[in-house]
Amino acid sequence: MNKRKLRNLEVSTIGFGAMGFTHGYGPSPEKKEAIKLMRDAFDLGCTFFDTAEGYGNGENEKLVGEALKPFRKEIVLATKFKVSYTEANTKEQLEKSIRNHLDASLKRLGTEYIDLYYQHRIDKDIPVEDIAYVMGKLIEDGLILGWGQSQSTVDEIRRANEVTPLTAIQSEYSIMERMFEVDVIPLCEELGIGFVPFSPLASGFLSGKFTDSSQYVGDDVRRVITRFNKENIENNKPLLDLITSFADEKGATPAQISLAWMLHKKDFIVPIPGSRKIERIRENLGAANINLTKEEFEQIEKQLAKIKIHGNRTDEDIAKLRFLN
Ligand SMILES: NC(=O)c1ccc[n+]([C@@H]2O[C@H](COP(=O)([O-])OP(=O)(O)OC[C@H]3O[C@@H](n4cnc5c(N)ncnc54)[C@H](OP(=O)(O)O)[C@@H]3O)[C@@H](O)[C@H]2O)c1
Repeated sequence: MNKRKLRNLEVSTIGFGAMGFTHGYGPSPEKKEAIKLMRDAFDLGCTFFDTAEGYGNGENEKLVGEALKPFRKEIVLATKFKVSYTEANTKEQLEKSIRNHLDASLKRLGTEYIDLYYQHRIDKDIPVEDIAYVMGKLIEDGLILGWGQSQSTVDEIRRANEVTPLTAIQSEYSIMERMFEVDVIPLCEELGIGFVPFSPLASGFLSGKFTDSSQYVGDDVRRVITRFNKENIENNKPLLDLITSFADEKGATPAQISLAWMLHKKDFIVPIPGSRKIERIRENLGAANINLTKEEFEQIEKQLAKIKIHGNRTDEDIAKLRFLN
C-alpha cells in the first residue's frame, strides 16, 4: 500500500482502528481470532494501528501489543490517554500522572515507545499548553515519537502546537460528518499536522450493509447514536444512493468510495476504519487502490452539497448506553 505522512511519521494510506475488538460495537471475536485479523491487516499492507488505554480498560492495548509484536518496529502504533483536572491539578502532578498513564500503556502494549500518543479528550480545566509541555518532555526522553489531540478545537490546536508541534489530530470525519472541514482540516494543512479520521465509515453506515431492521446489542454505540435510528436510516438514503451509484460505476463498494473520497481530499488525511471480519478489512484497505478522478470527486462534492445529513454521533448520546440493559 502507498504511504502518507502525518508530519514526521510515515504510515500506510489507510490505517486500522482496533477499538471494536473490546469496545463500542457489541460482542467481539475470541482473542486468537482478533490477533489473526490484525496480522492479516499487516499482511495486506497496513502499517498504522490505533488503540487507547480506555478501550476495554486496557484489554485492547494488550491485544494489540500481542498481535503486533512480531513486526513492532515496522509499524506506527498509536494509543491515547485521558487525564482530568481532578487527577492532576498542578503542573508537577500533571506530568507525574501522564507518565503513569504512559508507563501502564507501554507495559500493556509490550513496547518501549509509542509512535503517536494522543490526548483522547481535552479537559477544559487543564491548559493545553501544559499537556503539550509534558508531551515535549516525553518526546525528548524517546518514550513517544509524536503526539496528538482528539476532537479538539482550532484554538486548542494552535495553542498546543506552539509549545510542542502536533503530529496528528484524530477526530470524527466521514462523507457523512464533515464538520471539521470548516476549520480544523484547513488548520492542519496550514500547520503541517496530519489528520486521522475516526469512524470514517460512520460506524459502518456508509457500507450500506445496515438496514432499519439491523439489531445492535451490549455496548454497541449504534443503539444510541442517532444516525442509526429507523427514521434517519430512511432520511439518509440519498447519501447512500449517491455513493452507491459512484461505487457501481467504479466497480467498487460504497465503503471504498467513502474512503477514496477523503483520501482524494487531502494527502495528509489517513483514515482508520475498524472491522472484525476479514472480507471487510480487505475491502476497507483496498480503498487505497481506488483513485477518483478530479471530475468524479467534483461531481460527488457537487451532489453532496445538496444532501442534508440526518443524525450524528456524540459523546453525550454514547453516554446514554450505560442506562440501557
Ligand atoms: N478518538 C476517538 O474518540 C475515537 C472514537 C471512535 C473510534 N476511534 C478509533 O477509530 C477507529 C475507527 O472508528 P470506528 O470503529 O467507529 O470506524 P468505522 O470503520 O466507521 O466503523 C466500524 C464499524 O463499522 C463496521 N464496518 C467497518 N467496515 C465495514 C464494511 N466494509 N462493511 C460493513 N461494515 C463495516 C464494523 O463492523 P464489524 O467490526 O462487525 O465489521 C464496525 O461495527 C476505532 O477502531 C478507534 O481506534 C477513536
